[in-house]
Amino acid sequence: MGKRFHRVVAIDGPAASGKSSVARELARRLHFAYVNSGAIYRVITWHILQKGIDPGDSDRVAQTVESARISCRLQNNESRILIDDVDPAEYLRDDRVNENVSRVSSLPRVRAIVVQKLRGYAHHQDLVMEGRDIGSVVFPDTPYKFYVDASPDVRSRRRAAQGQRDEIAVRDQADSSRRVSPLVVAKDAHVIDTSHLTIEGVVSEIIAQLKRMGLRI
Ligand code: CDP
Repeated sequence: MGKRFHRVVAIDGPAASGKSSVARELARRLHFAYVNSGAIYRVITWHILQKGIDPGDSDRVAQTVESARISCRLQNNESRILIDDVDPAEYLRDDRVNENVSRVSSLPRVRAIVVQKLRGYAHHQDLVMEGRDIGSVVFPDTPYKFYVDASPDVRSRRRAAQGQRDEIAVRDQADSSRRVSPLVVAKDAHVIDTSHLTIEGVVSEIIAQLKRMGLRI
């Protein structure tokens, strides 16, 4: 028999929609652990680049990821990821990672590994997990699904305000059009347009909805 999952609040949405700030604050308010699923795809992408492997060489990328030791744990309610015993957290927003992460994460063999790791977190604690396919693929059975969005203009401005050169339109296109687990709105997700809302406003809306759904907080 499989292990029981704890409660999971899924927050999906495109780049710079405000997911991370919302998910982190929501986790704090609920006393759940916070997991950014994108960080695992970024760790894997960093590892591939660090080894000098061409991210376009799908077979080599998949083989390398399959033979890497990827350890995902929770520490102080946040996830910590090591790959072959290295924690590359400080490099995950590097330009070269931004530029290649969508390509690496489009590979089915890579996604299969990551999805297993992500499910593993829910054996230990209640979670708020953010990403692209959390409500649709990773935890399709959770009733607590939210899709946060914002207009493309607002999202570009938010990313620029973080001081990052990140072609979010390019990643959006790749993430939405890939064959395996594209970014979609899960059919039972609550959609929230954050364009004109503060982080606090979005978090309050989600908490109100969770209470209506009977989540004990
Ligand atoms: O920068 P942003 O917060 O938008 O992205 P992220 O959450 O760090 O994810 C980086 C990339 O990983 C995305 O552009 C997707 O290509 C991929 N990703 C995915 O495919 N599935 C997920 N559940 C999370 C991220």
